Amino acid sequence: MMKIKNKSVLFPLFSSPIYKEETEFRVNAAELKTIQSLPLMRSMPRPKPVGISEDHKIFNQKVFKRIKNFIDEKAQNFFKKVLFLKNELVITESWISRATPGATHHKHKHPNALFSVVYYVDCPSSYLRFSREHNFLQESSLFSYDFEKYTIYTAHHWTLPVKTGDLLIFPASVFHESSPNQHTTDKLVLGVNYFFKKIPTHF
Ligand SMILES: [Fe+2]
Repeated sequence: MMKIKNKSVLFPLFSSPIYKEETEFRVNAAELKTIQSLPLMRSMPRPKPVGISEDHKIFNQKVFKRIKNFIDEKAQNFFKKVLFLKNELVITESWISRATPGATHHKHKHPNALFSVVYYVDCPSSYLRFSREHNFLQESSLFSYDFEKYTIYTAHHWTLPVKTGDLLIFPASVFHESSPNQHTTDKLVLGVNYFFKKIPTHF
């Protein structure tokens, strides 16, 4: 909510909640070693793609119990204390994405999920860009608009700086992409998807 001047307020109504927290949580040596040893899927036919772990349920491995608990506590707090959601959401997938120097994670969203969490395991600095095809004006008309500058109300994309320890929670349907890894070491990011524990059937 943005205060414009005395007694005037602009509401970001019907917006997408994107949560970012700079946490002090860090993976330990045993967790990092396991993360680094995870076999990766064959890369998609794109220039400089990121590698995704073959295992899409890495939280089933005992060694990740501490990380899983940390992430789930943050996510459940978001669902219940920020969104006031009464449905129970549970982790359905958990994976690692590994970007070698220069590699970029292409624009994508997470199908078959409601919310996603991204935790930066090892990333000295990078950017994550969220995007949508239309803003609220273009969504309902065929006209093209000119803006002096884009704001959170009119933007098609929004870029967040991210680094090791950062945690993001966002709707799984929001497109996102990473900037190229500009460091000489691999960037390691952990992704987690959430879905209904029980699909609602009432109306
Ligand atoms: Fe993603």
